[in-house]
Formats: sequence, structure tokens, C-alpha cells
Amino acid sequence: MTKDFSTALDQIRIISREAASWGRANRPDGRVDVAATKSSPTDVVTELDRGCEQRIREAISQHWPNDGFIGEESAPSPGTSGVVWIVDPIDGTVNFVYGVAGYAISIAAEYQGETVLGYVIDISTGAEYGALRGGGAWRWEGAEKRTLTGPPAVPIEQMLVATGFNYRQELREKQGQAVAKLLPHIRDIRRLGSAALDLVAMAEGRLDAYVEEGLKPWDLAAGELIAREAGLIVTGFDGKANERLTIVSHNSVARDFFDHIVRCGF
Ligand code: IPD
Repeated sequence: MTKDFSTALDQIRIISREAASWGRANRPDGRVDVAATKSSPTDVVTELDRGCEQRIREAISQHWPNDGFIGEESAPSPGTSGVVWIVDPIDGTVNFVYGVAGYAISIAAEYQGETVLGYVIDISTGAEYGALRGGGAWRWEGAEKRTLTGPPAVPIEQMLVATGFNYRQELREKQGQAVAKLLPHIRDIRRLGSAALDLVAMAEGRLDAYVEEGLKPWDLAAGELIAREAGLIVTGFDGKANERLTIVSHNSVARDFFDHIVRCGF
């Protein structure tokens, strides 16, 4: 069964722009206080993450009361419509806490188990990215939409590769070792601090590849669809990007890059 999510995407834009401007207006100068820690002492949440999620959640449930909801900062609810919203209210929380650029709202809709809508807004710049399954990926520029097609093909040794490090110490150690093995064979590494913004940067062609272990559905779902719809290969072990591994690259190097990543020990 098909279902058109383009009107829902327009609505998500309105909801997210309002939440982003609320977040910008309420962010104090300097550092933001940490409200609590989660998976490790460095995995933090602020009252503004919670407030932003609450605003988005309330707006989604007003528009679509029968839909499910999975958010980073609150308990999930399954819904009855077959649609589930997957929300990260501030992806890049550590950047947000320190006042480093690069934090975003990430919202995806899953319908009958497939991601059908992806939307990411960079909270500090207001840049907006979207995709509909089978409908392409774009960045909004005013009222216009610019289609995203990813980076050009380059050999692995010339690739600028983004990655991220998990909050859990044992996984960070493994990630550090894998990156040390990868680094001599590529142009350079970037650690920007928001997986959602890494994925849209891939779609926009500002990075050549991306690899990370440990992503949660709310970090991944929206950006994954946007990268895929921009024509990129998004994969992992068993062919599916997930918490164990997410790799994004141009089709022309996807097989070799995957093998290389596995050899590096990711
Ligand atoms: C984190 C960011 C980061 C990635 C971490 C994520 P959060 O999300 O996306 O880039 O490396 O794995 O947990 O905690 O800022 O929402």
C-alpha cells in the first residue's frame, strides 16, 4: 500500500522550524548546563533537549494522534496507524552544550517498517534537508528545493571521511584503533559531532564517506534516507546500516571501501 508523505513533510518542517527557533532563543550564552547523564558520564542530556522533544512530540501527536513515537529523550509509544515517528531533538548534544556549531533536529517517519520521510534542520544555521522515499533528497533554499546528489567519485586514498565515537569507553577504544588504521589510507578524517549532519553533508557532497558504529535509530533514520535518496550507498554488516555499523559512500567505491573498513577493524 502506498501513502503520500509530502504533506506530512510540510507539516514537519513547520513543527521543526518552530522547535529549532525555540532552542536557539532559549540557549544561554556559553555552556549549557547538563541535566543528566545516560549511557556513560560523557553521554549527556540538557533540559533543552527534553523541552525540544516535548514540543515536537506534542505537535506530532496533535496532527497524527494514532501514530507511534520513538524519541531519544522520552518513552516510546507504539501507535496504531502503522506510522512511527523517530525523533532526535538535538543530535550533536555535546556541540550544543559547548556552543560548537553542528547540532540538529532529526525526524524520520517509518511506515510499515520502511523509512518513508527524512528531515534534518541544523539548529544554529537553519539549513534544512529532506527526502521522501523514492522522491529524491534536497536542501531547501528559501522556497526552492535544490536536489542533492552526493559527492563525485574519488579513489579511497583521496576521500575525506567523517566518523564519530560512541560514548561507551570500550567501544571508543576499538573505534580509535580502527581510525588509526584507516587514516594513512585516506585524505583525512572529520569528527563533526552530529551523525545527522554527517549524513546530510554526505548527501550534499561535502564529505566523501562516513563510517560509524553505535548509532541509534534517532541518529540514523532521517539522514540515512536523505543520503540514500541522494544516490549514495548506505550499508553495514548484513547489508543494512544499523547500530553495529553504518557506512556511506559513493557507489563506485562502496565495495572496496566496505572491505577496507572491515580490514581496519570497525
Ligand atoms: C551523537 C552524535 C554523534 C555520534 C554519537 C551520537 P547525540 O548523538 O550523533 O555524532 O558520534 O554516536 O550518539 O548524543 O548528540 O544525540
